[in-house]
Amino acid sequence: MSTLTDELTDVESSALAELERISDRDALEEWRVTWQGRRQGRLPKLLEQLPTLPIEDRREAGQLANRVRTALENAYEERRAVLEHASVSQRLSAEAIDVTLPGRRVPAGGLHPTTQTLREIIDAFKPMGFTVVEGPEVEWDYYNFEALNIPADHPARDQWDTLWLDIEDDDGKRPLLLRTHTSPMQVRIMEAQEPPIRVLVPGRVFRHEATDASHESVFFQVEGLAIDRGITFADLKGTLYAFARRMFGPDRRVRFRCDFFPFVEPGVDMAIDCFACKGNGCRVCSQSGWLEIMGAGMVHPKILQRVGYDPDEYTGFAFGMGPERIAMLRHGIDDIRHFYANDLNFLEQF
Ligand code: DAH
Repeated sequence: MSTLTDELTDVESSALAELERISDRDALEEWRVTWQGRRQGRLPKLLEQLPTLPIEDRREAGQLANRVRTALENAYEERRAVLEHASVSQRLSAEAIDVTLPGRRVPAGGLHPTTQTLREIIDAFKPMGFTVVEGPEVEWDYYNFEALNIPADHPARDQWDTLWLDIEDDDGKRPLLLRTHTSPMQVRIMEAQEPPIRVLVPGRVFRHEATDASHESVFFQVEGLAIDRGITFADLKGTLYAFARRMFGPDRRVRFRCDFFPFVEPGVDMAIDCFACKGNGCRVCSQSGWLEIMGAGMVHPKILQRVGYDPDEYTGFAFGMGPERIAMLRHGIDDIRHFYANDLNFLEQF
């Protein structure tokens, strides 16, 4: 026996024993370099000595060397597989999802009560051929007032406490304002197109208000406008009656009373019988049995003329209402300021 064969068996047992104790990939790689590394590995170094043996010992030592090499290679592969498997199952258990744990609730948003009401109003008019357009919130004095028969210095302007923009024209007048109602869109639409017209204009409006339970300085309106040949007051009543029944229930009754708005003639205020008490009188209707829900009227001939329509050929009606007021009536909300106070306790109820 040469010392080389002793060394080979020694390498084999030491390497295998060391391998047994290895528990991570870095250590495994270090082991591979130490024992099998191409230049400095302990086994390759021994193999280099094979050709120096006397010829009669070479065969036996060569066979042993091959066996040791294969043994180390196999043991190495085996260990590698074991470690790999261990790290995979480690990862699996670390990343496992406990499907028995109750899920975290995802907070779901909802539509604001004003938006819900606006959509219901629009849905009630849609079957009658109305489409929706929107207009600017910053408006010219001309569209908000002048073109609607509300001249400067006319007392009718008192009805709309106005927020003016701090911009003056050459005459020192302030021609830009935050629109106080959606009615200016009546004029813009008529200027932009020829009849027939059937539109709804939802949008934000602004008033210089001392706020209280029924007054906000920012709120919404929905304007309606229908212009065509041969439209009469009967069409106004029929359309708004159909709306009231779709919105508030099929046995609603409606009431029209004379009212003044400078841009309609005649003008009316429309009320429905109180759905809370069926008209007998209760808190919702302040004991009157009626709920006023909108202003309306036949579009004033002067306005038709101003936009270039012939009032002998075309007539039409307009109406305007506040969705917050309608939501307040339907849900028994007692203060309009709840709508924009951003209080989830209020908003989550809708
Ligand atoms: N613009 C009016 C307001 O803000 C509401 C109104 C009344 C609109 C009569 C109309 C109408 O179209 O015909 O008080």
